[in-house]
Amino acid sequence: MQLIRDAMNTSGVVLRKPIDEDGQSVHQLITQTPELDSNSCYCNLLQCGHFSDTSIIAEQQGVVLGFISGYLKPTQPQTLFIWQVAVSSAARGQGLGSRMLQQLLDRKESASVTHLETTITETNDASWALFKRLAENFDAPLERSVMFDRVTHFNDEHDSELLARIGPLAR
Ligand SMILES: CC(C)(COP(=O)(O)OP(=O)(O)OC[C@H]1O[C@@H](n2cnc3c(N)ncnc32)[C@H](O)[C@@H]1OP(=O)(O)O)[C@@H](O)C(=O)NCCC(=O)NCCS
Repeated sequence: MQLIRDAMNTSGVVLRKPIDEDGQSVHQLITQTPELDSNSCYCNLLQCGHFSDTSIIAEQQGVVLGFISGYLKPTQPQTLFIWQVAVSSAARGQGLGSRMLQQLLDRKESASVTHLETTITETNDASWALFKRLAENFDAPLERSVMFDRVTHFNDEHDSELLARIGPLAR
């Protein structure tokens, strides 16, 4: 698969579960998304394989436009934790992030999910807007708290990650 850099129309995009073979393309997308921490390729391979049921990839004619990694929290399996969301810069602002989140929650594997969690840095307006929209669509409150603190958890080398907890989700 390739990644795309120029503005584009996302109307024909296909949303599907990722497979192992998507790991390399996902790795490229995450690496080219400076707002996100990049992971090892191995990590992205595991996300695409082991967490396929709770992750989603957006592609158009073999081009990766978006990816969400997520998992059901081991101790709270009714909570879907969204690990990373990435939409190619050329495809942003067209509803793709919202569509991917909606499809993840529409899956049968998410049938028992009552809450969604993610972490967002204070200044990431696009991400806050994405998850506020989701909360509104599911008529659910969004609670904010600090999950990983700049000093306590990141040795003052990374902005604090604020937990956004959304739910209960009205289905
Ligand atoms: C965050 C991100 C995934 C959003 O994807 P997207 O496909 O552009 O989002 P959508 O088009 O579905 O927009 C969802 C909502 O966010 C709003 N939004 C999108 N980009 C925005 C921006 N830059 N500033 C403010 N609001 C924004 C949209 O208007 C929409 O709200 P609305 O439905 O009330 O109009 C994308 O900007 C991205 O990949 N950013 C870099 C990686 C990142 O920050 N990921 C999140 C880390 S927690």
